[in-house]
Amino acid sequence: MAKTKIAVLISGRGSNMQALIEAAKDEDYPAEIVLVASNNPDAPGLEVARAAGIETDVVNHRDYEDREAFEEALDQTIKLYGARIVCLAGFMRILTPWFTERWRDLLINIHPSLLPAFKGLHTHERALEAGVRIHGCTVHYVRPEMDDGPIIGQAAVPVLPGDTPDVLSNRVLEAEHKLYPQCVALACSGKARVAGERVRLQAREFGAELLMNPHD
Ligand code: GAR
Repeated sequence: MAKTKIAVLISGRGSNMQALIEAAKDEDYPAEIVLVASNNPDAPGLEVARAAGIETDVVNHRDYEDREAFEEALDQTIKLYGARIVCLAGFMRILTPWFTERWRDLLINIHPSLLPAFKGLHTHERALEAGVRIHGCTVHYVRPEMDDGPIIGQAAVPVLPGDTPDVLSNRVLEAEHKLYPQCVALACSGKARVAGERVRLQAREFGAELLMNPHD
C-alpha cells in the first residue's frame, strides 16, 4: 500500500506528534511521517522525533523578517521532504491565508475543544468557567480564520465535579491522542474529503464508533 507522506509541525512537547509516530509504526497505517518541523529550536518534541528515527528540521520564526518570509521557508522545507499533507500538532504560530490556501484541504489541525466552541487559547479554563458538561477536541482542515474549517472528527469527554484546568486538560489530551491518528488516517486514505465546506466521510466510516467517541 502506498503511504501518504506527511509532515508534522510542532512548537512544544509534541505528545500528539508522538501519538502519530506510534500509529504510523503499523504497516497498515496509510501515512508515513517524513518530517517533524518546529518553529521553536528548543521544542522538546524534536528530540522525541529524532529518537524515533524521524527527520527533523527547524524553521525559527525569529530568523525571518516577517511572517511571509517565515512561511515561505516553512513551505519550502515541507516540500523538500516530499510531504503531501501537513499536520499541526501544537504548532503555536498563526498561519496567514497565503500558507493556509497553499495547503488548502491538505493542512490539518487538532484543537482542544469541541469547535466552534472555545476557539483560541486556554480552552479548558474557559470550558470550566462556562460550566459546560461536555468538552473535548476537534480535528479539522485548516482555513484562514483561526480554529476554523471543515471538521474531520471530534471526541467528547465529560466535565466532572472538582475538575481543574489541568485535570480536564489531561482527560482531553488522552482523547486527542486517539482522535488525531484516526482522523489523519482518514484524510491520508482519501476517506475524509471536503465537499461544500463539510467533510464527507466514506459511508462505512460513519459506523466507526471510535471516531465518534475515541475516549471509550
Ligand atoms: C494540544 O492540546 C493541542 O490540541 C493544542 O496544543 C496542545 C499541544 O500539545 N493545540 C492548540 O491549542 C492549537 N490551537 P502537544 O504538543 O503535547 O501535542
